[in-house]
This record gives sequence, C-alpha cells and structure tokens, in this order.
Amino acid sequence: MRIVLFTGKGGVGKTTVAAATAVRAAAAGSRTLIMSTDPAHSLADSFDMPLGARATPIADRLWGEQIDAQERLEANWRDIQEFVIAFMNWAGVDAVEAEELSVIPGLDEIFSLTDVKHHVDSGAYDLLIIDAAPTAETLRLLSLPEVMNWYIERIFPVERRVVKTIRPLLSRLTSMPIADDRIFAAVERLHRNLDGVRQLLTNERMSSVRLVVNPEKMVIAEARRTYTYLSLFGYRVDAIVANRIIPPEVEDPYFGKWKDIQAEHLETIKESFEPVPILTARLFDREMVGVELLAAMGVEVYGELDPMAILHLDEPMRVHKRGASYVLSLRLPFTERADLNVFRRADELFIRVGSYKRNLALPQTLQRLDVQDASFVDDRLEVRFARETGGRATAAAGMRTEGGPDG
Ligand SMILES: Nc1ncnc2c1ncn2[C@@H]1O[C@H](COP(=O)(O)OP(=O)(O)OP(=O)(O)O)[C@@H](O)[C@H]1O
Ligand SMILES: [Mg+2]
Repeated sequence: MRIVLFTGKGGVGKTTVAAATAVRAAAAGSRTLIMSTDPAHSLADSFDMPLGARATPIADRLWGEQIDAQERLEANWRDIQEFVIAFMNWAGVDAVEAEELSVIPGLDEIFSLTDVKHHVDSGAYDLLIIDAAPTAETLRLLSLPEVMNWYIERIFPVERRVVKTIRPLLSRLTSMPIADDRIFAAVERLHRNLDGVRQLLTNERMSSVRLVVNPEKMVIAEARRTYTYLSLFGYRVDAIVANRIIPPEVEDPYFGKWKDIQAEHLETIKESFEPVPILTARLFDREMVGVELLAAMGVEVYGELDPMAILHLDEPMRVHKRGASYVLSLRLPFTERADLNVFRRADELFIRVGSYKRNLALPQTLQRLDVQDASFVDDRLEVRFARETGGRATAAAGMRTEGGPDG
C-alpha cells in the first residue's frame, strides 16, 4: 500500500498532476483511489465527470472521491462541539455566537484526512493519491495531529480523573455543564483517528509528499518553506514536479523571454531540491481535463518511472554516536539560523522554525543525556547530547552556540 500526497501553492497544477499520476498508476495495473481533502474540490472538473463523497469508478482500477468535509466534521466533532456550546452558553456567550466560536477553521479538512486511515485499513487499494489543499492549509493540517496529541495526552487524563472525583460535587454547587464520559470518549476517538493518520503519513515506507511548483520566483520560495516544514514534521518529499514548462518547440519571440526566465528558475529548483528528483511537465496547448489528456500528462511527468515507487528516500532524522556524545541530526533545509529555536524539557526536544513548533519525543538513548549544543552542518541541524561531566557546566542549547570540537 502506498500513499502519495500532492501539495503546492494555489493554482500551480496540484489537482492536475495528482490526477495524471492516478491515471498513470491505474493504467500500469495498480488499484488506485484519488481523494481530495481540499474543501474547494476540483477533482470532478479535472476528470470532467461527477464524483461522489464515496469512491466513484472513473476508469479501470481507478476511483475518485470528493470527501464531504461537513459530514466528517459532524461525525468527529458534534459531541465535543455540543459540550463546548453548552459550556459557552453557561458562561454567558450568546447562543449564535457560541455556535460560531465552536467551529475551528480548518478542522473540516483535518477530518477529511481521517478517511485515509479507513481506506488503508480496507485493503481495497494499492495506491492512495491525496489532492491536498494549497500549502498553508496542508501544513496546518499535517501538524495538527501532533499538536493535538500533545494536549490530549497531557491534559485529558488529568482532567478526566479530576472530573470523575468532583463531578457530583460540581453539579450540586453550580449549573456548569461538565464533560461526561461520552465527551471523553469522543475526544479519545478523535485522538486515535488523528494519530492513526499521522502515523500513516509519516511512515517512510508507505507515504511520500510530492511538491508541485511552477518555474516562478514566488512559487519556488514557498515550496522551499514548505519543504522545511514538512521535514520538521517528519514527512518525506520524494519528488518535485515542475509544471507548465514552455516546451522548446515554441519559438514565438513573445515567449522567448519567458523561456529564459523559466530556464533560470528551473536551475534554482534543481539547486534547491537535489538530490530529490525533479520531474517536469510542459505547458500543454490546452487545459488538461479528462482521462485521456491526464494520461498524456502522466506519461510526460513519469516517463519510465513507476509513479507508485518511492522516488527518493532521505532520512530526515537520525541519531549517531560521536566520541562520548550522541548527535541527533535533523534535516532542515532552507532554515535561517535566526528563525530557529531549540530547547529541551524532560524527555522532549522542542524545535521552533519560524511560526512552526514541533516537540520531538526523544529516543531512549538520549533521554538520560543532557543537551550540550546545537549547530548547523550544511542543511542539517545537529543537537549534541552527552552525559553531564563533573567539573564541566552544561552549555545551554541555543542556536548561537556553535558546536565546538568533540570531547
Ligand atoms: N501543464 C499544464 N498545461 C496546461 N494546462 C495545465 C497544466 N497544468 C495545469 N493546467 C490547467 O491549469 C488549471 C489549474 O490547474 P489545477 O486545478 O490542477 O491547479 P491546482 O494547483 O490544483 O489549483 P488549486 O490551488 O486551486 O487547487 C486547470 O485548468 C488545468 O487543466
Ligand atoms: Mg486543486
């Protein structure tokens, strides 16, 4: 079973490339399901046929699904939401306002992703292709399970115990709504679902992300940022698809200048992302809609490559021994040092890059050691751990602490 998720800036051709990949894989013999988690669905437009909220047959071995985000939201969130609304009403928030406030933006997309787990468990497909929303939303969506986990694992067990003991007392003293077992069960179910999805999407043998770009300055800049954040959260990018390249046979002088500009940007794309393979698709002379044209595009993008293969496998995080210390090394390309903050608390390492935060559960070997320093070696962040030695004060782990010689 393989999962390939496509993302990139708005309008670069994500849906088209994802659809072309699905068509190609199905033609090559894989049972393929393409699903979109972007609430602004355009898969049906791309295939030029209606697609339902359940897997709809498109061609031999090919199915498509446009998830009804609202339905998933209600299934996962309704119980919790009712409690939140009741609580806000009790606290004096106007009913309509409470209803509005209980809707967290982006949650519907996240619940759409819970379908991934369902499809993997079903065993009905060899390949799952996800047409995700443009980058910003996708990143939020991919990092949320981890952020929620953090809260749920720490706060809920405590809360639940407390509530169990004081619920009888509370309900006698106040009219405050108190979460009952049904709410806790809903939260736990949600937690399990999200965690399941995260585990699937960060499983390097199963899931890859492909970034779609156009040879344009701003698109590339955003793709680089996306790449950093994806690495931070442990998602593997196995290919970049550069789409809408003006082909050599276009000789109209009007496009001459554009071709030069594109050539330059393609060079930047290569320099930025290699050794990740860069696949290309030309700007076709029409809109690439319908199975036939998508098939042509699939051939163009993949050539002899198997669209289902893991096209590149790099190791975003590893731990190795160096002298008496251990080094945790995390690939974080395109990171400005000034953007980065690392600190450790108990058995967790907190890494902040720009506005994204990640808390890494430290592997066993590192849990008993102290952070000595953190520094950049090429595009890898290296955090050095060692046993605190008697006379020597432990260096604070800040990014301005450059790694000194070992020993
Ligand atoms: N290489 C190409 N040649 C010609 N037309 C293309 C090419 N790639 C995409 N298109 C066309 O560009 C339009 C936008 O593409 P698409 O919907 O795939 O972009 P998207 O990145 O999914 O957009 P959104 O961010 O809105 O989801 C579509 O009409 C599609 O047919
Ligand atoms: Mg799209």
